[in-house]
Amino acid sequence: MSVTDSLKFNKVLFDVWKVGFALIASAVKWDAPPQYDPVWLASVQLYPPAPALNDTRFWLGWVNDADVEFRLFTRRNPFEFQVLTTNDSASLHQSNFDFSKKVKVLTHGWLNHGYSPMPESIKEAYLNVSDLNIIVVDWGVAANVNYILASYNVASVGRLLTEFLNFLIGEGVSMDDVHLIGHSLGAHVVGIAGAYVKKGPIDTITGLDPALPLFTLGNKDARLDKHDARHVEVIHTCGGYLGFASPLGHIDFYPNGGTRQPGCGTDFRGFCAHNRAHMYFSESIISDVPFTAVRCESYDELYYSGSCKGTGETLVMGGFDIHYGKDGVYYLTTNAEKPFARGEGDPT
Ligand SMILES: *[C@@H]1O[C@H](CO)[C@@H](O)[C@H](O)[C@H]1NC(C)=O
Ligand SMILES: *[C@@H]1O[C@H](CO)[C@@H](O)[C@H](O)[C@H]1NC(C)=O
Ligand SMILES: *[C@@H]1O[C@H](CO)[C@@H](O)[C@H](O)[C@H]1NC(C)=O
Repeated sequence: MSVTDSLKFNKVLFDVWKVGFALIASAVKWDAPPQYDPVWLASVQLYPPAPALNDTRFWLGWVNDADVEFRLFTRRNPFEFQVLTTNDSASLHQSNFDFSKKVKVLTHGWLNHGYSPMPESIKEAYLNVSDLNIIVVDWGVAANVNYILASYNVASVGRLLTEFLNFLIGEGVSMDDVHLIGHSLGAHVVGIAGAYVKKGPIDTITGLDPALPLFTLGNKDARLDKHDARHVEVIHTCGGYLGFASPLGHIDFYPNGGTRQPGCGTDFRGFCAHNRAHMYFSESIISDVPFTAVRCESYDELYYSGSCKGTGETLVMGGFDIHYGKDGVYYLTTNAEKPFARGEGDPT
C-alpha cells in the first residue's frame, strides 16, 4: 500500500470510528457515580481495546519519526533543551549528555506536550536534587488528537522510543541506568518501549495513573505491565475512570484508595485526580517529608474497603531513590493540597 493509500485508508477507518462513536455515545445509559461526567466516560469506555502490537493498525504507521522529539535537559541546560536524534551519534556526543550519569525519560499523556506540567515539574525536581540526563519525549503531535486516535498512536510512539533506547544502548548507555516515567497514555508508551528494548530489561518504569479507557487488563501487549522492566512501579489516582484500578506493576501505590483524590472537589471528568499522580511524584523527589505507605494484605482488601489496615510493613512512594523488592499493593493518605506528603506518622 502506498503512503497516500494508507493515509486515505486511515482516514476511512477513522471516519468509521467517528460514526460508530456518535451512535454508541447517543445510545448509552450510564449509571456511573454522578461525580464523573457520564457522557465523557461512556464515550471513552465503549471503544474496542487498543490493539496488540502486531495488529494491522500499527503497521499502517500513524506516527513517524518527525512526530516524536527527544529533548535532553541537564544541569548545564536546565531550560533550553538539546534534541537527540535516533541513530545520529553526533547529536548525542556533541550534547551535554553525560555517560556517567543516570537517565530519566519522561513521557507525557493525552492532550499534553513537552512543556506540560508533566514532564516539566518532574524535570525541575530531579535537576534540583541531582545532576542527571533528563530526556523529555515530546509526542505532542500524536497526543493532541481525539482520545481514540491518541490511544492508537501509543504503540507507534512506544516503538519509536524503543528505537531511541536501542540507539542509546549501542552508544554505550547501560539499561541499568535507565528509568522510564510516563503519565496516563504515556505510561503505556514507556511500557511498550521497555518491552521491546534489545538488551533489556531496562531498570525501572514508573507508571503515573496509566490510562484505562480503551486499554484492558487482558491485552498485556498494548499496555504497561510488570514484564516491561526489571522493576515496575505504579501510582493509581483515578482508578476505574481515567486510570487503571487493577495492579499492573511489581509495586502499586493507591494514594487515598486510588480512585478519587482529596482537594479535587466534584472533579466532574476525573482530570484533577488523574493529574495528582504526577504531582505526588514530583513532590516526592524533592520532599523531605516522605509519602509513607502501608502494605495491604491483598488488592481485594483495598478494592472492597477503599483503604487497608496494613500488614505492618511500610514503603515510601516515589522519592529520589528507587525502592526495589517489597512487591505488593500499598495504601496511603495525602493532604488535600501542596505539600501533599504526610510523613511517617500513621499513613492511614
Ligand atoms: C497477534 O498476536 C496474537 C497473540 O500472539 C495472535 O493470536 C494473533 O493471531 C496475531 N495477529 C496477527 C495479525 O498476527
Ligand atoms: C535506527 O537504526 C536501526 C538499526 O539499524 C533501524 O532498525 C531503525 O529503523 C533506525 N531508526 C531510525 C529512526 O532511524
Ligand atoms: C528548584 O530550584 C529553584 C532555584 O533554587 C527554585 O526556584 C525552584 O522552585 C526549585 N524547584 C523545585 C521543584 O524545587
